[in-house]
Amino acid sequence: MNRHEFLRGLHRVTATRNYLEIGVNDGRSLTLSQVPSIGIDPAFKVNVELRADIHLVKATSDDFFATKDPLGHLKSARNPVKNARKGRPLFAHYRGGTTLDLAFIDGMHLFEYALRDFMNVERFSRWDSVIVLDDMLPRDIDEAARDRHTDAWTGDVYKLIPVLAKYRPELTVVPVDTEPTGVLLILGADPGSTVLKDHYDEIVQEWVVPDPQKVPEGILSRVDAVSPEMLLRGGFWTDLVRNRNRRAARTRYDALRGQVNAALGRS
Ligand SMILES: C[S@@+](CC[C@H](N)C(=O)[O-])C[C@H]1O[C@@H](n2cnc3c(N)ncnc32)[C@H](O)[C@@H]1O
Repeated sequence: MNRHEFLRGLHRVTATRNYLEIGVNDGRSLTLSQVPSIGIDPAFKVNVELRADIHLVKATSDDFFATKDPLGHLKSARNPVKNARKGRPLFAHYRGGTTLDLAFIDGMHLFEYALRDFMNVERFSRWDSVIVLDDMLPRDIDEAARDRHTDAWTGDVYKLIPVLAKYRPELTVVPVDTEPTGVLLILGADPGSTVLKDHYDEIVQEWVVPDPQKVPEGILSRVDAVSPEMLLRGGFWTDLVRNRNRRAARTRYDALRGQVNAALGRS
């Protein structure tokens, strides 16, 4: 299964009510969204039909998140009158604050950018938000170079896997074996966590190193990556969606994490 097929599956199983994408390019991932969305890219060149109420932002993700009310567009999509006019369920997006249901991070493929993108997305997420990062499983050292010299390019964003394991072990981090270059799915976001912010300088100092990158063998061989089909079939999605729609307290997260690990045969 390729990353766009997996993303299409995620839109379905998460019954997502909103969507944020960093890195739009020609729109092939953004076109999968049919809900109020934000797409961010300083150089988008969309050449496909988009079928949603989208704020297409021409800026870098850092600049976008530095604005006063970055998710303002999603708030306006919660207006019941506007919903009625657009044929959406009246209160579909109305309850609670604006938090992201589904986010896809696929912008600048350098580790420190992807780290900041995750930190910024997490500020607007809940424990039951679904955050996905693209190009997390490079196939060789050349593809993982910081200085791009290949057609397909993952850069060194894969480093988020060991960094989150070290600094944020409470997150549920699932490498997914999609074609061509794998994705990472993250649950359990905690907008109140300051761990990554507090350690940002130290993390960048340790992990931003010149090419060639030393990609761990386990990442190249995808030994821990799960099948995208199996992940999408997981019985836990129904509970995740129910909890999210009821804005259930984070105390439910442990149970969800247990369900995910059981479904994936992880301990
Ligand atoms: C791999 S492409 C995105 C592909 C798209 N998500 C898809 O699946 O079809 C990466 C995009 O990230 C954009 N980009 C580069 N630096 C960025 C940044 N700092 N913030 C947001 N987007 C960025 C590039 O302009 C490029 O269009």
